[in-house]
Amino acid sequence: MNQTAAQQHDVIIVGSGAAGLTAALALADKVRVLVLAKGELTGGSTAWAQGGIAAVLDAGDTFEDHIRDTMVAGAGLNRLETVEYVIERAPHAIDRLVQLGVPFNTDGEHLHLTREGGHSHRRIVHVADATGWAVQAALLKAAGDHPNITLLPHRACIDLITGRHEERYSGSGRVWGVYALNETTGQVEAHTARATVLATGGAGRVYQFSTAPRGATGDGIAMAWRAGCRVGNMEMMQFHPTCLYNLEVKNFLITEAVRGEGGHLINPRTGKRFMEFYDPERLELAPRDVVARAIDSEIKRFGLDYVHLDISHMAPDFVREHFPNIHEKLLGLGIDMTRQPIPVVPAQHYTCGGIVIDLAGRTDLPGLYAAGECTESGLHGANRLASNSLLECFVFGEAAAADILARWDGFDAPPPVRAWDESRVTDSDEEVVIKQNWTEIRRFMWNYVGIVRTTKRLERAKHRIQMMTDEVDEYYAHFRVSTDLIELRNLLQSAELIVRSALVRHESRGLHYTLDYPATLPDARDTLLVP
Ligand code: FAD
Ligand code: SIN
Repeated sequence: MNQTAAQQHDVIIVGSGAAGLTAALALADKVRVLVLAKGELTGGSTAWAQGGIAAVLDAGDTFEDHIRDTMVAGAGLNRLETVEYVIERAPHAIDRLVQLGVPFNTDGEHLHLTREGGHSHRRIVHVADATGWAVQAALLKAAGDHPNITLLPHRACIDLITGRHEERYSGSGRVWGVYALNETTGQVEAHTARATVLATGGAGRVYQFSTAPRGATGDGIAMAWRAGCRVGNMEMMQFHPTCLYNLEVKNFLITEAVRGEGGHLINPRTGKRFMEFYDPERLELAPRDVVARAIDSEIKRFGLDYVHLDISHMAPDFVREHFPNIHEKLLGLGIDMTRQPIPVVPAQHYTCGGIVIDLAGRTDLPGLYAAGECTESGLHGANRLASNSLLECFVFGEAAAADILARWDGFDAPPPVRAWDESRVTDSDEEVVIKQNWTEIRRFMWNYVGIVRTTKRLERAKHRIQMMTDEVDEYYAHFRVSTDLIELRNLLQSAELIVRSALVRHESRGLHYTLDYPATLPDARDTLLVP
């Protein structure tokens, strides 16, 4: 038994992306905050965001229009209350980022606004085509400078500490913190606090092709589910239409802003634009689910490997100025986007479902909050509108912090909890089990639970997940944890929740499109799974 005592904090935040650091900064003037991150502090999706952040900032734009666009993209499954709450707070969120020093592009005095699919106005603030990196850097700098914030990278959280881990079980269903693998020492540490915030990002890596970074393995969603939280709408997995097709570079996104600034999608066999056959009005700027399905259909009908995204009809200086990073990256791969089309395919991009939260970021468990991509807040519904997700991180990071501070005096200090028990495990002698399962799950999720689904394929996936879960559970019970094992267990749990949710939805809506139930039902209902 590892007897290391738990380390006590005021608030623990799991995740150092946009949601986690926003919450940390909003708390830190009043309480001490520990931020834990798997791997490096820049390892989440935030650092990779390209397009920007949606906010009504133009005189000709209105909250009503942004709300309507969000609901249309979300196929009516969004919760109106949440959509209004987030969108009305967007200008304030942008102001705060400006104060933190994020160098958004400007048009003289005003912030430059670009356009993306599903938006009826130009309303995306951005830092060229690398918005996420600038936001991540500004948040990290502010958090690093704050005396009340401790940033601890290389901690892979394994599970939440709950009432049942108390040394003297009080019968409470409360969350008291996390068990985390110190990836440097190999020891499992217990961190306790009065409140815990999950800001762990999405589960994109459950798919073979994904724009998400390596660590997007649904850890927070799986931890919350195991501890007793509901999850919602996990079948709503977003596929971005335009990921670079390249045999060496597998997950490089070509921002939607390329289409927003005039890029065309072209069938390389016919040499013609094809969106007019799928969405004659909105063409390349239709919501993502529509464009991704159109590309998938062209690829399948014509037996293609990819389609072309072409912006070479615009002035070369315009292209270089708007997309400097993409331009440079592609040049390195032998593609000059000012003169040549870019080969693209759809790839998993965003997890719309997740841990169910209310407007204050509260989950079903006392003491546990969640924010950002790991949640189902009601904002995105059946399909996220482009550039609404960073916005959700800022708004719910702040909302969770405000609620924690408002309730602070009623929060008990954490009781003594049991140390992580390693008495029955040994070092693994078969790492190949983990590697094999990682590869297998991602492949069958891509093939069976992808852009177009059928009940038969979902049932096949369910069967495989069950077999693999038995194998991984046995492995987990016998061997010392590693980050790969923690992630595999969570990937499997996430896959199970996605497939189970997809089987429950007997309609096609937004991102969930099934050949067995092609119609959309009159009432939009959330898929809520209860542990
Ligand atoms: P993340 O930024 O993903 O951070 C998750 C954090 O949790 C990380 O620090 C990670 O280390 C930590 N973590 C995870 N598991 C554990 C664990 N077990 N233990 C400890 N720590 C853990 N959205 C937009 O609005 N606009 C865009 O332009 C845009 N472009 C995108 C481009 C790409 C390529 C991608 C992949 C996404 C893009 N998105 C965009 C989506 C957006 O970036 C994400 O939804 C958002 O950044 C998620 O932020 P987050 O704080 O919820 O999580
Ligand atoms: C993009 O730049 O296309 C991604 C925007 C987003 O995911 O919201």
